Amino acid sequence: MAKIPAGNKIPVGILGATGAVGQRFVQLLADHPWFEVSALAASDQSAGKAYGLACHWLLTTPIPEKMRERIVQPAEPGLDCRLVFSALPSNVAGEVEKEFAQAGYAVCSNAAAHRMEADVPLLIPEVNPDHTALIEIQKHQRGWQGFIVTNPNCSSTQLAIVLRPLLDRFGLRKLAVVTMQAISGAGYPGLPALDILGNVIPLIEGEEAKLEREPNKLLGRLEGERVSEATFITSAQCNRVAVREGHTECVSVEFERKPSIEQVIEALENFRATPAAANLPSSPARPILVHKEADRPQPVLDLTTEGGMVTHVGRVRPDRLLDVRFVVLGHNTVRGAAGGAIHNAELLVSQGYL
Ligand SMILES: NC(=O)c1ccc[n+]([C@@H]2O[C@H](COP(=O)([O-])OP(=O)(O)OC[C@H]3O[C@@H](n4cnc5c(N)ncnc54)[C@H](OP(=O)(O)O)[C@@H]3O)[C@@H](O)[C@H]2O)c1
Repeated sequence: MAKIPAGNKIPVGILGATGAVGQRFVQLLADHPWFEVSALAASDQSAGKAYGLACHWLLTTPIPEKMRERIVQPAEPGLDCRLVFSALPSNVAGEVEKEFAQAGYAVCSNAAAHRMEADVPLLIPEVNPDHTALIEIQKHQRGWQGFIVTNPNCSSTQLAIVLRPLLDRFGLRKLAVVTMQAISGAGYPGLPALDILGNVIPLIEGEEAKLEREPNKLLGRLEGERVSEATFITSAQCNRVAVREGHTECVSVEFERKPSIEQVIEALENFRATPAAANLPSSPARPILVHKEADRPQPVLDLTTEGGMVTHVGRVRPDRLLDVRFVVLGHNTVRGAAGGAIHNAELLVSQGYL
């Protein structure tokens, strides 16, 4: 892995730095070998305040000392950096991210606003590193100096990572996915305690449509100037559960070429990213960890393995309606959000886009 001397690190900004995902960025970037946080930005209610006062810190590690007194800035171009990580709400991100890209910044976004636009890469380094080729097309078509790259919704991220080797080896026809998604996925302050404590809420607005669409773009093939989406069909049911962090998904799959259970496990365990994507600072040793114990993975026991960047699979077994079923667990604010965006930015550095 390349080392960058401290004085030469790439200066980065965080938009939405005070929110649930923004805080993860601050935490994960505190000692990053390639990036140095030089700007924190949020809404008008936070701008002008010291970060330590503007932000209700939710994480178990302390606020990095260097960030505590940093003054939060408005989320508008003029920030002293080349790359911005966006953790803005989607309805705000649409315009703000465009303004930054127009002004010459590289934008690595968590928000849904631009994910499905044809010339915007929806990116996971282990899944579709070649889709960064859309960057030049985007810059050319829009006349921008900068560009926008997005990472998927948290529940799509972990699913797409697991589907990559299965699609490649056996072909995919249909999926049924039922999610149990953590409260932190709703941001801060998120849901009132009285709504979620001891409860399951069988609706996450807009989530099922994302889960039924984003993996097809991620697993699509780059053909000329566009991505030809994968054709498998997904039926998703998304639920909010009283778990602090970690999204669990129960997945049933119908394949084109019928594998044995052993072949499915072997495909998941042996899946590796391309060498370029496997050796980035945030790359997990293996993208997927298959658990053999009958009652794993569990958020409380497994979520923080490899800093939250590995995707867990367990209970791989025959399915009575489709072919095979299994359980997937991923860290929604790390792998599914801030960690995923940082991993994307590392890939952009390694490919010469930054
Ligand atoms: N939570 C997850 O697990 C997760 C996973 C994947 C993707 N995402 C996506 O990541 C984004 C951030 O989610 P989150 O959970 O961190 O949300 P959040 O906790 O509500 O944080 C939102 C952040 O955006 C800032 N903000 C709000 N309105 C703004 C405006 N008009 N101008 C500038 N800044 C503004 C807020 O600043 P103030 O504090 O000043 O209001 C705060 O820093 C969303 O697009 C979400 O869909 C979240």
